[in-house]
Amino acid sequence: MADVNWGDLLSKTAAEMKPSPIRELMKYIIKPGVISFAGGNPDPYIFPVPEFASGAITLGRDGMEIMQYGSTEGYTPLRDFISKWMAPRMGRETELNEIVITTGSQQGMDLLCAALLNPGDAVIVEDPTYPGAIHTMRNRGAKFITVPCDADGIKTDMLPEVIETAIRAEIPVKFIYSIVNFQNPSGATLSASRRKDLLEIAERYNLIILEDDPYGHLRYEGEHEPTIFSMDNSGRVVYACSFSKILAPGARVAWVVGAPEIIRRMVMIKQGTDLCTSVIAQALVNQYCADGYMDSFLPKIVTHYSGKCKSMADSFRRHLPSDAEYTPPKGGFFFWVRIPGIDSQKLFMKGIEKGVAFVNGPAFFANGGGTDCFRTCFTFAQPDEIEEGARRLAEAITDIREER
Ligand SMILES: Cc1ncc(COP(=O)(O)O)c(C=O)c1O
Repeated sequence: MADVNWGDLLSKTAAEMKPSPIRELMKYIIKPGVISFAGGNPDPYIFPVPEFASGAITLGRDGMEIMQYGSTEGYTPLRDFISKWMAPRMGRETELNEIVITTGSQQGMDLLCAALLNPGDAVIVEDPTYPGAIHTMRNRGAKFITVPCDADGIKTDMLPEVIETAIRAEIPVKFIYSIVNFQNPSGATLSASRRKDLLEIAERYNLIILEDDPYGHLRYEGEHEPTIFSMDNSGRVVYACSFSKILAPGARVAWVVGAPEIIRRMVMIKQGTDLCTSVIAQALVNQYCADGYMDSFLPKIVTHYSGKCKSMADSFRRHLPSDAEYTPPKGGFFFWVRIPGIDSQKLFMKGIEKGVAFVNGPAFFANGGGTDCFRTCFTFAQPDEIEEGARRLAEAITDIREER
C-alpha cells in the first residue's frame, strides 16, 4: 500500500501551522515534581464542585430540552442571565440578538477573525499578547501590527502612525485586539483615558475593537475601569468574556457581545463549526448562576487569588535577583518578568531541570521579541509551591548567569 503523500493534500494553513507554544510545553510541565507557573489555570482546589454538581438538577428537570441540539446563538436562559448580570459593566442590558454563547472565548475570537479577515489583512495586537489569539489570527491568515504596552496598557499614541503606514502599504487593517484588564501576560490594565483614545482612533479609521476581558472580574486592588463597550454608541466594540477563569475552563462556556450585524455573521460561521456550544454545559452553568453561586463565589476567588498574588510578590522579592523587573499585578493571573540579559529559552530548560516551569517571553510576541522575559501564573500553584518555585527559579537564573 502506498503511503499518503500529505504534502499534496494538506491546506497551506495546516502545512504552515505551528503548534501552540504553551500546549507544547506540557510534556515538560507534567514531569513529576515540576512546579508549574506555566499554564493560565485556575486553582482546582477552589473549584465550586458541590455547588456546580447541584446544578445537575437541570438535567432531570429540563433534560428533554437540554439533551437536544440547541440554537447556535446559545441557551436563552443563560443569555438572559448574562444580559442582566453584566448590565452594570456593559452600561445597559444587552439584547439577545447582541449575544452569542461560544465554546470558550477562544472560539469567539476565531469566529470574529473568520467574519472579518481575508488572508493578508492586518490585526493590531498588543506586544506582548495572549499566544492563543496569535494562533487563531494566524490560522485565519492575519498579518500582525504590534504596538507596545506600558503600565497603562497599549500605547495608543503610537496607533495612528502604524495604521497610516499600513494604509500607505495598502494593507487592510480590520481590528484592534486588546486584553483590557490584567492583560495576559503583562498584567497591565488599559487606563480610562486610553480606552477613550482607542475608541476615538477606531472610529477615525473605521476599525473594530475586540475587547477581550476574561480577567476583568478578578480585581484585587482599586476600582474597575469602564468597559470600552459601555463607552461606545457606534457598534464597533465586540466584547468577549468567559466562565473559564471565574468558574471552570472545563465547561468551555463563554460569550461575545456586539452589534447584531457582526453577531449574526459570527453565528452563521459557528453554524458551520460546531452547530452550537454544548447545551448541557450551558444549562449547568446557567443553573449554577441562577442559584446565586456566581455572585457568592466571585468574592471568594478574589480573596483567594489576591492572597496568591501577594505570595508570589513576596517570594519573588525574597528570591529573584535585584535586577529582575516585574510589577505585581492588581488582578488577573500573571506576573510578567524581565531578567536583563537572560535567554528565557535556556532559562526554561534550566528551570525544568530544577523543577519549575513558566512560559518563555517569545510566545507572546506576534512579530518576535521578548527573549529576556517570561510569564508566571500564580493561581494554579499552592502557596508552599509558589515559595519553592520562586527559589528554584532564582537558582536557575544564577546557574545560567554563572555558565555565561
Ligand atoms: C486573554 C485570553 N483570552 C482568551 C482566553 C481563552 O479563554 P477560554 O477558556 O474562554 O477559551 C484566554 C485563556 O487563557 C486568555 O488568557
